[in-house]
Amino acid sequence: MDDLRTKYLEAIAGAGDEAAIEDLRVQAVGKKGEISLKMRELGKMAPEERQVAGPALNALKDEINAALAAKKAALADAALDARLKDEWLDVTLPSRTRPAGSVHPVSQVTEEVTAIFADMGFAVAEGPQIESDWHNFDALNIPDHHPARGEMDTFYMHRAEGDNRPPHVLRTHTSPVQIRAMELRGAPLRVICPGRVYRSDYDQTHTPMFHQIEGLAIDRDISMANLKWCLEEFAAAFFEVDKIEVRFRASHFPFTEPSAEIDFRCSWEGGQLKLGEGDDWLEAGGSGMVHPKVLEAGGIDPSQWQGFAFGLGIDRLAMLKYGIPDLRAFFESDLRWLRHYGFLGLDQPTTHGGLSR
Ligand code: PHE
Repeated sequence: MDDLRTKYLEAIAGAGDEAAIEDLRVQAVGKKGEISLKMRELGKMAPEERQVAGPALNALKDEINAALAAKKAALADAALDARLKDEWLDVTLPSRTRPAGSVHPVSQVTEEVTAIFADMGFAVAEGPQIESDWHNFDALNIPDHHPARGEMDTFYMHRAEGDNRPPHVLRTHTSPVQIRAMELRGAPLRVICPGRVYRSDYDQTHTPMFHQIEGLAIDRDISMANLKWCLEEFAAAFFEVDKIEVRFRASHFPFTEPSAEIDFRCSWEGGQLKLGEGDDWLEAGGSGMVHPKVLEAGGIDPSQWQGFAFGLGIDRLAMLKYGIPDLRAFFESDLRWLRHYGFLGLDQPTTHGGLSR
């Protein structure tokens, strides 16, 4: 029995892997293992002999089993240690030095403006870029003979021969979304509508496609004062300064009455634009109180409701805020330009976390 003990304990100590342990288990204490066979011989022994050999064999079996289990656990630990050493990985390393793509300044500014107005309770509304003549013009109080139609440099869609309905247009502004939002949601209403618009025009400050954001608020007692406050809040948040003075300049749009051009106070000292200080004014867009005829066209009773509307140029806001000189470069898809002016995709603009970094 001592020989058996020594033989197996030594073999177990020297086993190199789990398979070797299993082999030893079968050899020693398996059904036909050496110790198991010895236990079967107990029956043939004289009772006095059996009284000594029985417990001793059982003890040996237990000892071998315990040694097998301990060695197995030690081998598993060693295997895990080896793997941990081998599969070492520093999870604090950045996955890439710089993501391959970037967010276009127009998308960035759209997100920024949307985040600011969302904070003031405005929902986002959308409309089609190929718009009906009625939504783009008539419903906005721009009838057929109106000079504003000519001023818009409109792109007209093709109509089949013999189809005498007015052709659809590539929307010339985001104002038709005012009508669509009124039709869809009714009053009271608070929406902003960012999107692409089209006019046949091309130079350093004009491209045939550009971006606007429309604002519309309708309620029972909305006034120009509410409009001005919203624009001041917006301007300060967008340009990330404490306060920006807004100036209204009397103007005319067929769809607002009264109408006002929106200017922000600024300075151009040393060719550098600074907002909120100085004696210059920056033109930012158009605005006014929604014309009663426009409310009617949107299915809203002008004797019960009134509201303000404004339209801002997104591309222009992007150029001013990020110092981008030429509008045409926005749409040339030049990778070097996109890398220079683009934003990281993971930085979602929010009013609490920061708009731009
Ligand atoms: N739609 C006008 C434009 O494109 C801007 C505007 C919007 C003016 C809303 C007043 C109210 O010039």
